Amino acid sequence: MSKRFAVIGNPVSHSLSPVIHQYFARQTDIKLTYEKVKGDEVLFEQQVSDFFIDYGKGLNITLPFKQKAFAMAHNRTTRCQLAGAANTLWLQENQLYADNTDGIGLINDLTHYLQLKDRKILILGAGGAARGIIHPLLAMNPSVLTVANRTVAKAEELKNDFPLIKCTGFDNLSGVFDLIINATSASLEGATIFLPEHIMARKPVCYDLAYKKNEPTPFVAYAKNLGCQAVDGMGMLVEQAAEAFFIWNGVRPETRPVLELLRQS
Ligand code: ATR
Repeated sequence: MSKRFAVIGNPVSHSLSPVIHQYFARQTDIKLTYEKVKGDEVLFEQQVSDFFIDYGKGLNITLPFKQKAFAMAHNRTTRCQLAGAANTLWLQENQLYADNTDGIGLINDLTHYLQLKDRKILILGAGGAARGIIHPLLAMNPSVLTVANRTVAKAEELKNDFPLIKCTGFDNLSGVFDLIINATSASLEGATIFLPEHIMARKPVCYDLAYKKNEPTPFVAYAKNLGCQAVDGMGMLVEQAAEAFFIWNGVRPETRPVLELLRQS
């Protein structure tokens, strides 16, 4: 019999999760269905419990419901606790379990491009997306983790929760970086962030958490133009899905062939 999975979010129609999980299913010979559910701000909790009552095996959570999903869970993994948000839910002995596979998804994807230990890493942005990747990055022991934000005060606020980070604005950005991660929502608005010339002259690896299906994000295009190796977040999407697939099915799928297929399609 098919196992039933879904992703819930709003908007959700653009989600690639059903396609990714079907690729994993084919690869591992597991029969499953994977739906998209448009989440409702008021009915979210009801939608989640209905899904599990209706024999759902596992649920992915996307924006803007990750905090709500976190709050609903009876049991949370350590990395989920640290993130304060959940993207993967499942039932175990009638209890709702939550994990957050975004951080490990990012790390697993990034390590295809460079090792993170002792590297100098710059995060652009200080919103929810930036907050979610700080713990997993610090766990990799970079030599420096700097957060730069348009509104400096917001970056400074992050320091209360993550005393090990450095904070700055874009204008007075200084130093040398091996890796720059764009965690702002600028790409989603079609806006480009321009960084000081000396920062880009060192040709850091540039990584955009955002992705676009058929074209580079503005940040990827900007960095590539300056001769940097630059990738979007599609690899992270596949890696976080693989972790969720492993939690639910106990089998670890191969991610790189699936990423290739997504990039070709
Ligand atoms: P998310 O949950 O996606 O992180 P958010 O919490 O609203 O969304 O945060 C958006 C982040 O993108 C913020 O760091 C924001 O900078 P400000 O704090 O100065 O607003 C950043 N951001 C959005 N558009 C941007 C742009 N065009 N240039 C630079 N930073 C931008």
